[in-house]
Amino acid sequence: MSGRDNFIRMSEQNKTGSRVAVITGAAQGIGRRTAELLAERGYRLGLLDLKPCSETIAAIPKAASIDFTGDVTDESFIKASAAAIEERWGAPDVVINNAGISFIKKSEETTVADYRHVLEVNLVAPFIIVRAFAPMMLAARRGSFVNVASIAGLFGVAERTAYNASKHGLVGMTRTLAAEWGGRGVRSNAVCPGWVKTPMDDVEQARGVYSDADITNRIPMGRFASPDDVAKAIAFLADPEQSGFVNGHTLVVDGGWTADASWESLRLSQRKK
Ligand SMILES: NC(=O)c1ccc[n+]([C@@H]2O[C@H](COP(=O)([O-])OP(=O)(O)OC[C@H]3O[C@@H](n4cnc5c(N)ncnc54)[C@H](O)[C@@H]3O)[C@@H](O)[C@H]2O)c1
Repeated sequence: MSGRDNFIRMSEQNKTGSRVAVITGAAQGIGRRTAELLAERGYRLGLLDLKPCSETIAAIPKAASIDFTGDVTDESFIKASAAAIEERWGAPDVVINNAGISFIKKSEETTVADYRHVLEVNLVAPFIIVRAFAPMMLAARRGSFVNVASIAGLFGVAERTAYNASKHGLVGMTRTLAAEWGGRGVRSNAVCPGWVKTPMDDVEQARGVYSDADITNRIPMGRFASPDDVAKAIAFLADPEQSGFVNGHTLVVDGGWTADASWESLRLSQRKK
């Protein structure tokens, strides 16, 4: 094992998969389900997270994977991870900027330090990752970025100034990269989930900031998104055979939330018909 391997744990039972995906925030939630789904579809996986992705890797024993434990805001960690992936597998086919943090607080109680921290994780880190992987992808003239934004990147939601600004920024970054690199064979798209049942939701609900009913009553389809709903949208945008001319798109995965301007009693009455 080289010195670099002190933060890399290798798991390479199978090197036959043809495509390579890099997923941040892959230890749990949406990132973990995305890793599982892409493994089922034959991708080799570079998994990055603050925590070891041991549970994710245990769920995909046949996939070739490399686990990088570190902070996505740390440029040297990202550069070293990108170099290790390029050395082993070459340019990735898809880089999925999924790691992110929630932050729910009244704007007048949000400090500038809070605001900077949320932007650092949710918006600056995706750019660090894009800067690390884009040179090899542009040189290969193929591949794509999929950025996990939110419907909070398209509309306002009270008490989330920092989070919503970060996700609006991520949508802006996605569209700009699509304009800049689409002509060089590298697509950029975003998925915009509504509320998803993940550990992030568990943490916020444990704080009492909203309930299941607050969310499900707002959604025409009457349920939360599952991590699998979002993973399938990511997999669609990742696959050039399915989405090869889709570039700069924000794919909403929200059960109709943002399409529906009905008042609550009207919305709920539709379920009884
Ligand atoms: N859960 C939702 O309702 C929801 C809705 C819309 C968008 N999203 C977005 O989807 C993405 C994934 O969310 P989730 O619900 O799976 O969250 P989660 O909290 O369950 O998982 C996030 C993962 O990211 C990792 N992570 C966080 N900060 C990191 C850092 N600095 N460096 C490396 N890894 C880091 C965490 O360790 C964790 O494993 C996030 O970007 C989130 O904003 C979530």
